[in-house]
Amino acid sequence: MIQIKNYISEHKERFLNEIVELLKIPSISADSAYSKDVIAAAEFVENSLKEAGCDTTEICETKGYPVVYGEKIIDKSLPTVLVYGHYDVQPPDPVELWDSPPFEPVIKATELHPEGAIFARGSCDDKGQMYMHVKAAEFMMKNNELPCNIKFMIEGEEEVGSDSLADFLKDNKERLSNDIILISDTGMIANDVPSIATGLRGLSYVEVEVTGPNRDLHSGIYGGAVPNPINVLSKMIASLHDENNHITIKNFYDKVVEVSAEERAEMAKAPFNLEDYKKALDINDVRGETGYTTTERFSIRPTLDVNGIWGGYTGEGAKTVIASKAYAKISMRLVPHQDPDEITELFTKHFEAIAPKDIKVKVTPHHGGLPYVTDIDSTGYRAAAKAYETTFGRTPIPQRGGGSIPIVPLFEQVLDSKSILMGFGLDSDAIHSPNEHFGVWNYLKGIETIPYFYKYFTEMSS
Ligand code: BES
Ligand code: MN
Ligand code: MN
Repeated sequence: MIQIKNYISEHKERFLNEIVELLKIPSISADSAYSKDVIAAAEFVENSLKEAGCDTTEICETKGYPVVYGEKIIDKSLPTVLVYGHYDVQPPDPVELWDSPPFEPVIKATELHPEGAIFARGSCDDKGQMYMHVKAAEFMMKNNELPCNIKFMIEGEEEVGSDSLADFLKDNKERLSNDIILISDTGMIANDVPSIATGLRGLSYVEVEVTGPNRDLHSGIYGGAVPNPINVLSKMIASLHDENNHITIKNFYDKVVEVSAEERAEMAKAPFNLEDYKKALDINDVRGETGYTTTERFSIRPTLDVNGIWGGYTGEGAKTVIASKAYAKISMRLVPHQDPDEITELFTKHFEAIAPKDIKVKVTPHHGGLPYVTDIDSTGYRAAAKAYETTFGRTPIPQRGGGSIPIVPLFEQVLDSKSILMGFGLDSDAIHSPNEHFGVWNYLKGIETIPYFYKYFTEMSS
């Protein structure tokens, strides 16, 4: 398939211009003020699938944002690859920390991306990575290089929990039938160290509300004599980890299966430089669960983190006040066999149990998701590995990712399909953060690598 390289050099400018256009649309699913833009992004994706050469495309309405579907069926007896991705993005806040506006993409070189990176919200997560598949499919469909059937399912609610997609799967099992699901919504170790994600962590996300007195009070008149919900909440949160950074919630680790020493030794072979890691984040030291390495802490171990905490007066200057209420948003990343609903319940019980008698607590669950692991001993994994070998000249390293894509375990439950996670982003690409970017080299390398997956998967399946 020597022409893929030629095709890319011939169409490179257009490939970049198109993704830049898509990145200009602020398709923020979490904020209803942007609902028109989310729909506009869906229309853009549908149109791009049509232009790329799909026979059928459709904007499928759901209770929430639509799922964009497209397909090209060349022969029902051949394998079918279903591509999943998302066209929605995270809110760009805090906007003032961006060096350029989040929805006005600019291409700039960085230390890790000397050939330039596209700076915009969604460039890496996931518009840029999703669009690589559209362009790879365009190459295959326009050059008679598509060796099997292809289906696209691109959703608009991934960043808010994929609620509608779960229903969509149940209602469209037949239409979505496939032999493998292909996803680029994770990362890789480095541009010269390709890796394939073999796992995703699950998620339990809760919001807590702690109430003290029935109204805000003068902190001089009442201070020292009444429960201050912010003081109490801080103490409760601090008690959720012990001195070894183990989570103290009763039964939290019950279902966690320890990864074997052999597998840990295998994982430890993946290159990881702690000094570079600390330097990139400007931290003097790392911190985490005793007995595990940094890589293990963010991949094979469950965690608990406060994502936001508020209450009282946070405006300019000083206001002397004891708040009536304090709040926090807490996420727990889960590993295989932990169940998000069970963990949410354990958290709730624990949080109620540790609450001092003089305050009230309320725990509200948000979206959650199951963890996921795949076997490297499968046709899909082997085809993906061979595709990387072809274009990177190196065997990819299997690595479990720390993030979550809650719909992936449902693909297995509802569609009975395994997913292959071919991510081309870097951890330093700042997804969900200010100045998110995606390397131009990575974007084009993804487009180059993907067609080989189709070729090898089809060959290996027959
Ligand atoms: N693409 C990410 C997930 C991801 C990133 C997995 C990097 C592995 C490596 C996805 O868009 C995401 O942000 N997921 C959320 C969960 C969702 C329910 C909001 C997450 O992991 O926080
Ligand atoms: Mn994503
Ligand atoms: Mn995301």
